[in-house]
Amino acid sequence: MTKTTVRVGQLGAGFIGQMHSLAFSNAGFSRLQPEVRADLVAIADVNQAAAADIAERYGWTATHNDWNGLLGEDLGLFVNAGPNDLHSAPTIAAAQAGIPVFCEKPLASSGDVAYKLWKAVAAAGVEHRCAFMHRFIPAVQFARELIASGELGEIRHFRSRFLMNMLAPDGSVSWRFDRGRSGAGAIGDLGSHHIDLARFLVGEVQEIAALTGTWTVDPAQLITDVNDDSFIAIGRLENGATASFEASRVVASHALTGEFEIDGTKGSISWNMERLNELTIRRPGQGPMTQMVTRPGHPMEGFWLPGGVQGSHPLGWNECFAHQAHDMLGLASGHLTDSVAATFEDGYRVAEIVDTIERSAKERRTLPIAFKA
Ligand SMILES: NC(=O)c1ccc[n+]([C@@H]2O[C@H](COP(=O)([O-])OP(=O)(O)OC[C@H]3O[C@@H](n4cnc5c(N)ncnc54)[C@H](O)[C@@H]3O)[C@@H](O)[C@H]2O)c1
Repeated sequence: MTKTTVRVGQLGAGFIGQMHSLAFSNAGFSRLQPEVRADLVAIADVNQAAAADIAERYGWTATHNDWNGLLGEDLGLFVNAGPNDLHSAPTIAAAQAGIPVFCEKPLASSGDVAYKLWKAVAAAGVEHRCAFMHRFIPAVQFARELIASGELGEIRHFRSRFLMNMLAPDGSVSWRFDRGRSGAGAIGDLGSHHIDLARFLVGEVQEIAALTGTWTVDPAQLITDVNDDSFIAIGRLENGATASFEASRVVASHALTGEFEIDGTKGSISWNMERLNELTIRRPGQGPMTQMVTRPGHPMEGFWLPGGVQGSHPLGWNECFAHQAHDMLGLASGHLTDSVAATFEDGYRVAEIVDTIERSAKERRTLPIAFKA
């Protein structure tokens, strides 16, 4: 069996750079079509020790301490796993060199920057996707199928919560807390995932009202404009459904709580990242029924192991990243046309909603989302 090989270059050897390294090395083992694998050509990070460690651990052939070095390689896919303020320039440069691009979320540190990034990359004519990885969780795809089939009836409500503790034990704060580098805080970092989910599962966000909170101060006093630690927003989706989004990065007792609920006229579903293979379904007159989605026929069945007489084994966060990497390799190689991955237009739209949430909290009023075409 000969798999199409995509030569991958990646910016960023930090937390998510490691996940993508693992995912792109693993994606080639998938049994699903298209038959693609990644050649981990080069990784770039200003932190040379981190780049060297990740290169050694996952098999990147070369390291660079400047992302420009990646553009001198012969690449078939550019992965941007750098901080938010580094999403735009390198991704545009790669796209203009004719390389398909895959960029971390949020697409940029503001709606305006995200818009220019989307337009520049679209003009370059290359495949472009934004890493809203929840779309590659089988339970989320199963939820989408249930909604599309009409099993839940008309959707009336979407609600979500994303709670974490992102404070370092020594109290130090990273680029994420710096408005100048990150843009929004919890809204862009955590909320953006669930905003994308609401759009993916139910429909576009049309208007929003929000409150934000910030408690963190930089003990080193280097970051003077600390962005939001938490937010709560209520909104309306295009089909008339109401939506609520809550996220906080300073909830000490939550390692990672990420959950959504969707209510329709014929049924409701709920999902929680801590039990990511399960979807709880409620129907009128019945109590909650929790179902494992990793059963024969589930959306990623047979990704690595054939489902069947030996059962369907549980999946984890790593596998969902591999599903996403496999999809991106398929797109970059031209062998996949029906991807569910978020485009840069999706990334821009989420960034515009994030900006509007911030503005709504500041102006203390409900605002429509003014998307640019
Ligand atoms: N999809 C997800 O679930 C998910 C999860 C976490 C993070 N992210 C996103 O991934 C991105 C990176 O986040 P992270 O948690 O990996 O951050 P991180 O701080 O752990 O890693 C960022 C890396 O970029 C490197 N870097 C900084 N400036 C650079 C430069 N000029 N040139 C080259 N390298 C440079 C840093 O040295 C660091 O290794 C962010 O946009 C974040 O929102 C997504």
